[in-house]
Parts: sequence; structure tokens; C-alpha cells
Amino acid sequence: MQKVLIDCDPGHDDAIAILYAATHLDLVGISTVYGNQTVEKTTANALSLATLFGLDVPVAQGCAAPLAGRLRHGGDIHGKTGIDGAELPAPDRGTTGMHAVDFIIEMASKHRGELVLCPTGPMTNVGMALRKEPRLAEWLKGISLMGGTTQIGNTTPVAEFNIWCDPEAADLLFRSGVPLWMAGLNVTRQAGIGPADIDRLAGSGPVGDTFAGLFAFFLDSLRQVHGLATASLHDPCALLPFIRPDLVTYREVPVEIALAQGPTRGMTVCDFRTLTPKALENIQGMARPNCRVAVGIDGPAVVAHIVSAITGWSGRKLPQPGPA
Ligand code: BDR
Ligand code: CA
Repeated sequence: MQKVLIDCDPGHDDAIAILYAATHLDLVGISTVYGNQTVEKTTANALSLATLFGLDVPVAQGCAAPLAGRLRHGGDIHGKTGIDGAELPAPDRGTTGMHAVDFIIEMASKHRGELVLCPTGPMTNVGMALRKEPRLAEWLKGISLMGGTTQIGNTTPVAEFNIWCDPEAADLLFRSGVPLWMAGLNVTRQAGIGPADIDRLAGSGPVGDTFAGLFAFFLDSLRQVHGLATASLHDPCALLPFIRPDLVTYREVPVEIALAQGPTRGMTVCDFRTLTPKALENIQGMARPNCRVAVGIDGPAVVAHIVSAITGWSGRKLPQPGPA
């Protein structure tokens, strides 16, 4: 079973990614980062979610701000807590006490050649870990991230939130030489959960009830801010290559992160040109393919699979909700 470590900022869709990984993969750890809210809030949410799901998985708190640039949070979409819409249980455990950057390095060293990192928030922890421990790039089997886009952005016309929050950190990933998979908005927006799916979740048990509340809030935010008709299940899409590879198609191409200040900052520049070998001979410094970029997805099948993972979750006895 594939070992994964999710580096996240829960976050409604991060919450689904954690459960989706727990239902199908060997989830060896969760690390947290600022993003959808402050790192203190995303960590508290990760601990509450692990409690709700009954997971015996270590949680490590990470970076509170990007490597460069201004710190901004996604509260306009995810609310004051970072995961508004349902009351989560009070955490029944604490963090490991280790910084997420060191935790990522330690887990990759322990599971050399076997571990896939799944960043579903700003890439700051992973970028810092690559910088701190140069051997990390060899130890990892891969990095499968939710971020970027081949088409329009959500935070600027061309940039997606997770990359836009810390383009310098994302750049470290894309230059690392680690095998990369990128699930960007161009596919994740096709995996949208609608009111009928939310109704299916409600009444399916404490986890399903919680997700019904969370996704009703998330859908409302995305409707109001982006005019969307469904709530995109962005983050679990990063796990599809290891759970349902039949539902997503990738193309391996050169990808570069735009770092310059101005309207393109945070853009994932994907080179989809179909250049002939003869033309390539004449192009100096043409970048090599460094990332499998998701270009197609069976959105309805992904949503159906994820919804059934939630309704079918038979984790341990679930604790009672704690104080607000
Ligand atoms: C990404 O940003 C956050 O709002 C989501 O959790 C997802 O990781 C989508 O752009
Ligand atoms: Ca996220």
C-alpha cells in the first residue's frame, strides 16, 4: 500500500484528502501549514479531524508564513476557523512537538524510496525541507501536489492559491528533481460536489453529517465568491494517482513557476507545445519535462468515489463534539 504524508492547511477539501488517504492508503503522517487560516488554526483543525476520523496518525505543526512575500489567508472561502460549517470534536491528542519541516525529513528518511508527499496547502514546509536536507530529493518516491492550473487561476487571473501563497517554495519543488504530479484547478474544478451529494452525506453517520455541514458552507462560499455551482474537491485529487489512476490523465511536461512581481506571479507555466525533434534542436536551454500535469479527469466518477469513501467510513468509535 502506498505510503503518503499529507502536508495541508485544513481546510474543507484538505479534510476530505485526509480521510480519503486514510481509507485507501498508508497515511504515515500529517503536517500543517498556514494557508486557509493561520497555522495554529489549521493545526487545531487537523487534530480535531484526526480525532473525528479515529486516526492514529502523528500531526506536526509547520510554517506560519511564506519564504518571501506577504502572508495572506483564505478565510474568505474557508471561514474564520478555516473549516467553518460544522462543529468538530475537541482534539483527543496533541502534535508530535517536532516542527513539520523536520518531521517531513524524518519520515522520508525512515521510508526511503517509498514515501509520497502530498502538499495540499502552500508549499512552504516542503520547500524548506528540501532546502534543509538536500538528500530529501533522493529519499522521496514522489511529490503529488494540489496546486497550480493550466488555465485560469482562482487567486489572480493566472495563479492558484496554494502556489500563489509561496511561489518561491513551489519553485524549490519544481526544481528538485523529485518525480512530481500536479493536480491543478483545470481538473479539480471538474470534481465538484453539489447539493444532491451533500444530501447523500447527511444522515450517513457522524463523519458524513460533519462533511455535509462543511460542504454546505464551502459550496456557499464558492458560489458567492467565484460563482461556482459545485464545491470543488481540490485536495483529494492529489491522491488519485495512487487510488484511482484510471480517473485522471497526466502529461509529463516542463513546468516553471513565475516568480517576478506583477500579474503573472505564482503562475504555473506549463509547456504543452508539441515541438518536433528538429525544432527542439534549435531551441537553446529548452527545459526538460519535470512534472506530470493532470490534463483530464472523470469528475463525476471522482466525486462518487470520494462520497462513497466518506459514507462507507467505518473508523473507530467516534467521539462526541466538544465545546465550540
Ligand atoms: C486550494 O486552496 C485552498 O482553498 C484549498 O484547500 C485548495 O488546497 C485550491 O486553490
Ligand atoms: Ca488546501
